[in-house]
Amino acid sequence: MKKISYILFLGLGLFGLFAINGCQKDSNSNNYKGLESPNLPTALHNYSEIEMPIHFDSGFGYNAGNFDITDTRATLGRVLFYDTKLSLSNEVSCASCHHQSKAFSDQVALSEGIIDNRTPRNSQAIINPAMQQTYFWDSRVSDLEEMVLLPIQNHNELGLEKLDDLVVKLSQVEYYQPLFEEAYGDKAINKERIATALSDFLESMFSADSKHDQAMIQLHQTGSETVFSAKELAGKAVFEESGCINCHGGPDLRGSWGDDWANIGLEMEYKDKGLGVEGSIFGGEGAEGFFKVPSLRNIELTAPYMHDGRFASLMEVVNHYNEGIVAHPNLDWRLLENFGSGDMGPKRLNLSNTEKENLITFLRTFTDQSLITDERFSDPFSR
Ligand code: HEC
Ligand code: HEC
Repeated sequence: MKKISYILFLGLGLFGLFAINGCQKDSNSNNYKGLESPNLPTALHNYSEIEMPIHFDSGFGYNAGNFDITDTRATLGRVLFYDTKLSLSNEVSCASCHHQSKAFSDQVALSEGIIDNRTPRNSQAIINPAMQQTYFWDSRVSDLEEMVLLPIQNHNELGLEKLDDLVVKLSQVEYYQPLFEEAYGDKAINKERIATALSDFLESMFSADSKHDQAMIQLHQTGSETVFSAKELAGKAVFEESGCINCHGGPDLRGSWGDDWANIGLEMEYKDKGLGVEGSIFGGEGAEGFFKVPSLRNIELTAPYMHDGRFASLMEVVNHYNEGIVAHPNLDWRLLENFGSGDMGPKRLNLSNTEKENLITFLRTFTDQSLITDERFSDPFSR
């Protein structure tokens, strides 16, 4: 403790020196990270007009009419998402664990929130949240506006247990009043408004511009997929023949008909029971090791993998499905060797090295560069 405060003291002292220096140097320029107030465009970004490509259409329950976004609310949501004032320590924001460059996930197994607290699970990428029916690894929340307030209150994340405290805090921050006024017609700040602004911003992060999307559009329009290279097509065949598509299907590669859940045989006794806890949507021991099937969109960017971040690379994930699945009593039937007859042990894929590499090459076609470079979703507090 003593040591920590000493370092802190020393750190503050040094910071003071730099701050004085920094001020002189930067008084006429803003080209340093961490602006005091957000730098927003004079003409608002367009968040509300979302074009739904053809392969999201029909059959999946997706349609553009599901979106209810306004540009002013999403603009406010962007500021809230990146603002460290949303945390008890004023050091952590949503973006601390959800980096744009990583499709809004982060690079560690368990993320650091306030006061060095670690989250018990791997930070999820934020992938087309408007199209999900439930959120979190265990699907414990189904309403996005309800969801966005939980990390603010969570003691491992932003730590502002009483939302009323946040309302008071934001009321004292100069740049929020005009933002709330533009979004809602008057300056009042309350938790409902914070929630709709954050959820509008998240909903506007629509990702549908990967090579895989282009190929699906081409397939719809012309019946061929010449966008893919020979190696990618070979990988696609492995993806289908190995049964990956049975769980990671549809336009978002997360379940063809909406949310899906499975135990994929990671370990015999799950440390984190997932849906196998009382009160979960399946509730109880019978669902130990069940987790929501995650989207594979942008998967190349979101290592480490699984609910606990146990796998550092896509090759480690592929090796798990190839030869590492354990015979957990709840193992999903789609991962059994011979479902319904004979040996019902865990599936072994016996892929060659080339097949594994092709599969990973195909997984890389799920990356949407435009999501991670789109200025509309970038940090307004940095330059
Ligand atoms: C300290 C790290 C941390 C911070 C800060 C944080 N999150 Fe998260 N986020 C996580 C983790 C970990 C999960 C998965 C939790 C679980 O499943 O139990 C998650 C899950 C999510 C999901 C669910 C994604 C899905 O596919 O179901 C969304 C959306 C999200 N966070 C948005 C936010 C927003 C908005 C904020 C700020 C208000 C925020 N997060 C702050 C770590 C963080
Ligand atoms: C029975 C359904 C099912 C099948 C089949 C399946 N997966 Fe998964 N996949 C899941 C679930 C559920 C998770 C999350 C498990 C967890 O974290 O405990 C997951 C996680 C993943 C992840 C990590 C995602 C992340 O965000 O961390 C990758 C990558 C992945 N699967 C790829 C594949 C590949 C490649 C195949 C085919 C070889 C495949 N999956 C087959 C259900 C499935």
